[in-house]
Amino acid sequence: MKNINPTQTFTWQQLKNHFIDIKDVHIKDFFNTDQNRFSDYSLFFEDEIFVDFSKNRINRETLRLLLMLAQECDLSHAIKNMFLGYKINKTENRSVLHTALRNQLNNNIIIDNTNVSIMIKKELKKIKIFSDSIIDGNWKGYTGKNISDVVNVGIGGSHLGPYMVTESLKFYKNHLNIHYISNIDGTEVTEILKKVNLETTIFLIASKSFTTMETLSNATYLKNWCLLHTKYKEYLSIHFFALCENVTAALNFGICYQNIFKFWKWVGGRYSLWSASGLSIVLSIGFKNFESLLYGSYMMDQHFLYQELPYNIPVILALISIWYTNFFNVETEAIFPYDSYMHAFPAYLQQSYMESNGKSIDRNGNLISWKTSPIIWGSSGTNSQHSFFQLLHQGTVLVPCDFIVPVISHNPIGSHHKKLLSNFLAQTQSLAFGDNIDINSKIILNGIANENKISHKYCPGNKPSNSIMLKKITPYSLGALIALYEHKIFVQGVILNIFSFDQWGVELGKLGANNIFNDFFNNNTNNKYDGSTKGLIQLYKKWNKI
Ligand code: F6P
Repeated sequence: MKNINPTQTFTWQQLKNHFIDIKDVHIKDFFNTDQNRFSDYSLFFEDEIFVDFSKNRINRETLRLLLMLAQECDLSHAIKNMFLGYKINKTENRSVLHTALRNQLNNNIIIDNTNVSIMIKKELKKIKIFSDSIIDGNWKGYTGKNISDVVNVGIGGSHLGPYMVTESLKFYKNHLNIHYISNIDGTEVTEILKKVNLETTIFLIASKSFTTMETLSNATYLKNWCLLHTKYKEYLSIHFFALCENVTAALNFGICYQNIFKFWKWVGGRYSLWSASGLSIVLSIGFKNFESLLYGSYMMDQHFLYQELPYNIPVILALISIWYTNFFNVETEAIFPYDSYMHAFPAYLQQSYMESNGKSIDRNGNLISWKTSPIIWGSSGTNSQHSFFQLLHQGTVLVPCDFIVPVISHNPIGSHHKKLLSNFLAQTQSLAFGDNIDINSKIILNGIANENKISHKYCPGNKPSNSIMLKKITPYSLGALIALYEHKIFVQGVILNIFSFDQWGVELGKLGANNIFNDFFNNNTNNKYDGSTKGLIQLYKKWNKI
């Protein structure tokens, strides 16, 4: 992978000039002057996913220049290097091989003289045997009853991906109740313990490092609670499992070896749902459906690896994002899944995008002068329309949006799905084209007609969006969609000349939390902290009567 400053490429200057030419062109003008715009600015992934990127503020010249930028930044080599296991995560000296987890070929992937393909297959086999035994009732709780509940204890990538997939594929779930504990505020543990029967519940301690404060605190509390309330000293060997890279730490916690499901350093936490970290998914939908999820992502990998750049969906979407962040100076991008099952998808993508590309030092160790990750946010539609869409239509900020919808519903009742689709289509339409109100139409302000004022009802349009249609939300199509975004984020990182697979920015806060926690119970905070932190600690102690 070359470390090229994108702003110093030949193409970047051409893009700046092109932006001046195009920035005020309205999306409706693009459609009025190009009858083939929809077909020319949309792409299929098999017969599963359709991406319409025609409602963007781009034209053929924009795409030509953006693709030239990708070539100047040697994107094609970077893609191959990742799949081949090159240590592209240079600050941690690691390969980035979440793609190997879903590889369907029998080829060998060698890292540091180790055939990781064999390790992956071995772990998948262990996951299958275990998940089948829980689902089929062969694995009994300590009193001989079938397992009914699974509690995943994890945070960040050890929570968001598994939770999002389990929720998105709820239609495929079996009889097991899957719960997620992630936060350390005590509430989630307390609420879950009200619900579950310790005789029929298993606990998955999901933590790649097995050192994360929140997860270990929750896990330790649960361990002690279970041992106290069951008075069964072998409880952990039947009901506690670890999903981790740090096997030693899991053993020291008290998880027995055969209850540890492993993944590896070259699997980033936020890219780990395809590994043992996704065990809660397997328990929820069964191993066969999990294999289908893997297969969908694998097929998107093949699209990404072999499709020419102009027809490569993750590449096109990544380039359009770079166009908005670095030329329109857009600060945020929104994700709107028009499906309740996919309600957790925006939160999942927040970590994927912003923990990957929320960087400001480039791959040469220089401070960055261009824009990297936008702020990613979003929520389900149509709910979002009754919350913040006003800003999207008439606000002063430009927010490119991804609208995602399944064309076939799992719950086709009444005319609901047609109404959902109508809203989906109407929103991208009105954002793009606005309304036809003559902006200088007569309006009455304080009872007086004003010829030259602008109607408050005026929606200017020219707000860009991508429309992403899944034929149906299935394990296969969801796997492909997730991989689509993983690769989009990767492409943006390559071109923006950043390292997308480390997350040094989160370490400072973690260290600070440990220091403050230790100081809560002694009084030497006065000379250690700034006035605000010191004052807040004192108020905490006062209100808690510490
Ligand atoms: O947010 C920081 C982070 O390290 C994430 O990258 C990771 O997904 C999360 O914390 C949890 O880490 P672990 O899986 O090691 O508990």
